[in-house]
Amino acid sequence: MSALADSVPHIRAISEADIDQVMAIEASIYTHPWTRGNFLDSIKAGYTCHVMEVAGAVIGYGVLMLAAREAHLLNLSIARQWQHRGYGKSMLLHFIDASRRADALQMYLEVRLSNDVGRSLYASMGFFSVAVRPGYYPATHGREDAILMGLNL
Ligand SMILES: CC(C)(COP(=O)(O)OP(=O)(O)OC[C@H]1O[C@@H](n2cnc3c(N)ncnc32)[C@H](O)[C@@H]1OP(=O)(O)O)[C@@H](O)C(=O)NCCC(=O)NCCS
Repeated sequence: MSALADSVPHIRAISEADIDQVMAIEASIYTHPWTRGNFLDSIKAGYTCHVMEVAGAVIGYGVLMLAAREAHLLNLSIARQWQHRGYGKSMLLHFIDASRRADALQMYLEVRLSNDVGRSLYASMGFFSVAVRPGYYPATHGREDAILMGLNL
């Protein structure tokens, strides 16, 4: 592959060899990160676990569960130094596309009430608020509500 092509982000299926890089990103962007077991279980369960890679380095990833014509986005993450450059939106578009190709009718995700960037990304892609899940997330002090957001595919 040419050096130029190598520097263009591309999305591919995760492999167990990526987990160390994924865990490092996860620990650096979340107060309550997923565990290695969460990722390994997602792979074992056959969820759509994809990473975004630039020049051999993982810069983002997501986990999508597809079942009963519903898609549930369980994780969407971009490494801090790569955020706000449109990569989160392109990964989200990738998972929306994957959900449509799998004939899902709706896509759902939970987002922290305080996550303004996440909420505005999802709203900009047409997601609407479905419900509040009280105390869904652990927080530094107590628990935090999640907004369940949905998209008709
Ligand atoms: C949320 C996240 C995935 C978004 O990815 P990103 O690459 O940073 O976002 P993008 O550059 O693709 O921006 C997409 C949209 O997000 C919103 N956004 C991005 N930066 C923002 C900022 N500083 N303030 C408010 N909204 C912002 C905008 O709606 C933007 O759309 P626009 O560019 O058309 O205005 C990423 O920031 C991230 O991993 N954050 C930490 C983990 C997290 O919160 N994950 C989501 C859990 S539900």
